[in-house]
Amino acid sequence: MTELIAQAGDTVAIANDHAGIELKSMLRQDLEGMGFKVLDLGTATTDSVDYPDYGHALARAIAEKKAKAGIAICGTGIGISIAANRHAGVRAALVHDDMTARMAREHNDANIIAMGARIVPPDSARALVKTFFATKFEGGRHARRVEKLG
Ligand code: RB5
Repeated sequence: MTELIAQAGDTVAIANDHAGIELKSMLRQDLEGMGFKVLDLGTATTDSVDYPDYGHALARAIAEKKAKAGIAICGTGIGISIAANRHAGVRAALVHDDMTARMAREHNDANIIAMGARIVPPDSARALVKTFFATKFEGGRHARRVEKLG
């Protein structure tokens, strides 16, 4: 086993569109409870916004090392994860259950967990975030594969 994506005291960024407002505020509290500093990149209201703006902002925060890891939320999690994954070195994993949250870390060394606020119930989403941050990348053959992602 190698390492966790972030340790207590590290900064974790979170970004969402209008569909993710409620889930974001729950997750912010959970992240703080886990000892992380939170960089909230918005959006902050339910006014309709464009998810790529938030996915790109989150990816830039990771690429520029302003945050160790990130959480991306839109209605399905699809659009915001597509946007984030257009940045080199960013690996956003769209997860929906315990296995995908674990494998995103163990095999893919994902640095962003993406979820759909209209897909995953809030309590499940909170559990998936805990799993994601508690799971180490396995390295080994997976490191070679992750390297090939660019
Ligand atoms: C917004 O209505 C919705 O399209 C967005 O939240 C997301 O699901 C896109 O992938």
